[in-house]
Amino acid sequence: MNEKFLWGGSTSAFQFEGGGTEYNKGKSIYDIREEKTGVKYSIASDFYHHYKEDIKLMHEMGFKAFRMSIAWTRIYPNGYEDNPNEKGIQFYKRIFQELKKYNIEPVVTLFHWDMPEYLVMKYDGFKSRKTVECFIKYAKTCFEQFGDLVKYWLTLNENNLSMLIPWMYIYDKDRYKNSNTQQLAWDCYYNSLLCHFNAVKLCHEIIPEAKIGNMTASALAYPLTPKPEDILATDQHNQETMWDDLDILTTGVINSSFIDRMKDKNITITLNKDDAKLMVDPKSKIDFISFSYYYSLCIQDKTNIKNSNAETMQMLYAGFYNPYLKKTDFGWQIDPIGIRIFMNMTYNKYHLPLMVVENGMGTENEILTSDYRIHDDYRIDYLRSHIRAVKETVDIDHIPVWGYLPWGCIDLLSASGNYKKRYGFIYVDFEHKLERYKKDSFYWYKNVIASNGKEL
Ligand code: BG6
Repeated sequence: MNEKFLWGGSTSAFQFEGGGTEYNKGKSIYDIREEKTGVKYSIASDFYHHYKEDIKLMHEMGFKAFRMSIAWTRIYPNGYEDNPNEKGIQFYKRIFQELKKYNIEPVVTLFHWDMPEYLVMKYDGFKSRKTVECFIKYAKTCFEQFGDLVKYWLTLNENNLSMLIPWMYIYDKDRYKNSNTQQLAWDCYYNSLLCHFNAVKLCHEIIPEAKIGNMTASALAYPLTPKPEDILATDQHNQETMWDDLDILTTGVINSSFIDRMKDKNITITLNKDDAKLMVDPKSKIDFISFSYYYSLCIQDKTNIKNSNAETMQMLYAGFYNPYLKKTDFGWQIDPIGIRIFMNMTYNKYHLPLMVVENGMGTENEILTSDYRIHDDYRIDYLRSHIRAVKETVDIDHIPVWGYLPWGCIDLLSASGNYKKRYGFIYVDFEHKLERYKKDSFYWYKNVIASNGKEL
């Protein structure tokens, strides 16, 4: 690893920040989910009130970078106002300044799923171009306000999944029960692409020295057997889940094979000339590809949700278990070589530097010992094997990787909404006063960073 390698950790606003609607924050769809499910997104890990303590702990571990997202509703409470919310801007400036104090680079995601409720109710979120206009304004404000403090930006979290999961940007299925869901997914995905390309272009114009990337969810699949039919099905899975999106993001072109495959699904794609111009503009090109990687899966010819292990794997798309791999409590297969395979495939296709912005092991039932420790040797094993694979990707395969930011570095809410799934180096006592306790992995990771990955 070179000396500039960004070791650190990763979070998102709705899962980590809390702070409710303080300082005029508006409601996002997660505040609405809280009303429906009781899951306390408005508190989460309460980074809002603990940020000084948390950043100091990150510094103690030696973090060089910290990934977080900005809550759109702190900057524009309803998503669309004429002027931004000054108190929200000041809140993030305080965080970025605190990180700078310790030489920790913020890596900031503009949109990690917490769409303003108002934009969903009024415009059906990304279904409407009105939301694209609002997003452009929000992104511009972020670049103008935080450009001197933030040099690494990511656009939309795991946007490749939104094409596959029609509900991702819609949120309330019932509202759309009579709609053509595939068409709806495409309309939302297309508008989210416009958000992405506009944000990249604006970032390059407003902060020329900054670097901006996308964020891909790895859905790496292997053929279940060497049968050519299984290999073909696997290629198709990888194309649809990952490469279709990255092909568009890296070339700015929606190619005819993709359009024809969409037509086969009865999706109508209307391409607008001005959008096409924006997408191929050199300023709209990402500087690096960031990604999340948790597991791999296997694909068989005619794999479908019903005959697959998708439910036990807690996955959103069809897949089978790999007999050569172990799995976590949550059914996610542990495959460190997979991260190296994914990075090789991605780099060899797109030739852009990579950044790991999510990786890690979610576990249940971590219990504080009487001396307030967590002995999480299983997490250390998981991370050690994955970091080793990242190092091999850099040292043996000679692929540029800018950083390693494992997910949920301080315990946070799972995306599926519970406190039980923990990823952190730091334990958060959600049952009491959200006190922080260092796990064994805290000390281990501190040494990994201090030795620049030599001591694993
Ligand atoms: C990624 C998301 O998909 O996976 C995160 O970007 C999420 O928001 C993470 O938390 C892990 O998933 P989960 O379900 O364990 O929280």
